[in-house]
Amino acid sequence: MQQAQRRILVTSALPYANGSIHLGHLLEHIQTDIWVRFQRLRGHTCYSVCADDAHGTPVMLKAQELGITPEEMVAQTRAEHHQDLLDFHVEYNNYYVTHSPENKAFCELIYKRLDEAGYISKRSINQLYDPEKEMFLPDRFVKGTCPSCAAPDQNGDNCDVCGATYSPTELKNPRSVVSGAEPVMKESEHYFFDLPQFESMLKKWIADGAVQKEMANKFNEWFEQGLQQWDISRDAPYFGFEIPGAPNKFFYVWVDAPVGYMASFKNYCDAQGIDDTPYWTPGNDTELYHFVGKDISYFHCLFWPAMLEGAGFRKPTGVNIHGFVTVNGAKMSKSKGTFIKGRTYLDHLNPEYLRYYYASKLNDSVTDIDLNLPDLAQKVNADLVGKVVNIASRCAGFITKRFDGKLSSNIENPALLQEFHDAENDIAVAYESRQYHKAIRDIMALADKANQYIDAQAPWVTIKNDDLQSLTHDVCSMGIHMFRALMIYLSPVLPKLAEQAQVFLQDEFTWASVKDIKTGHSINKFKAMMQRVEMDKIEAMVEASKENLQETKNAPADAAKSEGPLADDPISETISFEDFAKVDLRVVKIVHAEAVEKADKLLRLELDLDGETRQVFAGIKSAYDPKDLIGKHTVMVANLAPRKMRFGISEGMVLAAGPGGKDLYILNPDEGAKAGMRVK
Ligand code: MSP
Ligand code: ZN
Repeated sequence: MQQAQRRILVTSALPYANGSIHLGHLLEHIQTDIWVRFQRLRGHTCYSVCADDAHGTPVMLKAQELGITPEEMVAQTRAEHHQDLLDFHVEYNNYYVTHSPENKAFCELIYKRLDEAGYISKRSINQLYDPEKEMFLPDRFVKGTCPSCAAPDQNGDNCDVCGATYSPTELKNPRSVVSGAEPVMKESEHYFFDLPQFESMLKKWIADGAVQKEMANKFNEWFEQGLQQWDISRDAPYFGFEIPGAPNKFFYVWVDAPVGYMASFKNYCDAQGIDDTPYWTPGNDTELYHFVGKDISYFHCLFWPAMLEGAGFRKPTGVNIHGFVTVNGAKMSKSKGTFIKGRTYLDHLNPEYLRYYYASKLNDSVTDIDLNLPDLAQKVNADLVGKVVNIASRCAGFITKRFDGKLSSNIENPALLQEFHDAENDIAVAYESRQYHKAIRDIMALADKANQYIDAQAPWVTIKNDDLQSLTHDVCSMGIHMFRALMIYLSPVLPKLAEQAQVFLQDEFTWASVKDIKTGHSINKFKAMMQRVEMDKIEAMVEASKENLQETKNAPADAAKSEGPLADDPISETISFEDFAKVDLRVVKIVHAEAVEKADKLLRLELDLDGETRQVFAGIKSAYDPKDLIGKHTVMVANLAPRKMRFGISEGMVLAAGPGGKDLYILNPDEGAKAGMRVK
């Protein structure tokens, strides 16, 4: 399957500059890198670019927390991210940053064109504002009581308890995550992009195959809900680009982030003397693909193509959407040590293990991918060490020692070698269509055939027989020919292993060269190529990831996704001192207690806080007879938002310890403590 040379530009989503690269990000970068390497191996022109996503409120606040400028922070993180990726053998032509002159220029140009074409409008909106910090608050920076179920401490846009979605202005008892102050409503003028005007264009673009079918259905739901005007401005203070002609108004980070793809590519092209315009001008035969996670598909499949179209640029050929990484069957968790940073992984394990494992699981769908660590060890050991590398190590020694380091001039089993060559097209189709799992399956089926052949021929036996020397030479050479084909097929996934194989084989791989027959070719001495995965290294990595916990803080960094719909970020499992200080613990006297009918576990308590009486429902029925509680002192959380329950409103929470059932003990202050006293 040899086509004409294609010209392709590929991107991965730009990681936010306020957190480390983790194994979830790496799924995407590895998926992209494999595809790009495959295209290059096939002889196509394929550029790939990425960058750090520098702008937005979370980055600005994180820099403030660290006491440095956002520019300084972004420069540090960019360097760290870039090195992490390189160490996983993920190589972009350019790894840039969105806070760049190229990006500013492109944003201004696109905005100007959209404005001139009538796609921009202005109107005033009311938004929550932090009067202490003097800034408007993105939804995720406001917390409060759910307007629908009264669960306390819910995010500004949706409730984790009942699943309701709402606007932050509907929250009860709202407070700013930044300062703790109660937000006030404040009016401000915002700029809007007229997305609804692009509806029919977007529908057609999606129907024509720009995204996977399963996602196309999801988009139809979005279309049915109706497209809205998109708010593209944010008020100062904001780390971003100022909107031309609009002092103190900045482009929302999601405006300049995808434009960052253009900027990163331009920065590269300028340095290399390449013309980037054919990649952005409609009507060219160039191709443009974005690899992104499902959580940001809305931005890439609605806003971004509409912006491009409105500004006279070409639309992406395809947006390749992937699912999320789970670890050992669950969402990545900091406390379990499964929230694994790229760097922590690299401290313990070979990056190619992960590349191979992800490749063996990746397909073109958006279903999540489970990283099962014991399974990773098993697969790598069985497939790469046990099958592929083993072929070379079983055959190479004899070639070097007995046959002068030269492959035989005869092909012992042409039909078998032909099978290795014939597999080329199917494997290429699998890579091209991102069915990497199928490519790996086909390659491993061939590896099995190679090993069966060697087992049956048993060169370690025939080598001892003087009459069978040339057969042994032929058989070992067959082994090397087959190994070579496997390594060419695997090289997009395992570039370092492929490099070692090329040194060993004195060869330079291209995809088409798989069909070259290397009879009589000289090879180098075989050196060990890959170690087995050891479980204790995996365990050490998990332990080290638990240790990372101490360094991470439940701060705006974890709200990095704050501004995207479908946000899905792991929750940090420590709280800051400020968070703790917000809890109002009081000594109370239990003045009344009774069982709640139709509730197995609940007692209804009336608590005296020295003058004020509160009703609290407590799940301690299994451990206490209500009448024994009356008159006792205990400790309650007094500022917990009231919660509506089936039996009435619970106005706080009493503290108890123990595993449950009969083993449950309410906290009991020492004598002398009086109702109403604050616990410090
Ligand atoms: N900065 C935006 C992207 C802007 S692109 C113009 C962003 N950054 S991110 O750091 O939060 O995510 C970067 C990419 O990593 C996204 O495609 C996201 O889907 C992906 N992933 C983040 N966590 C992931 C997993 N646990 N699993 C798989 N991919 C994940 O969004
Ligand atoms: Zn709720």
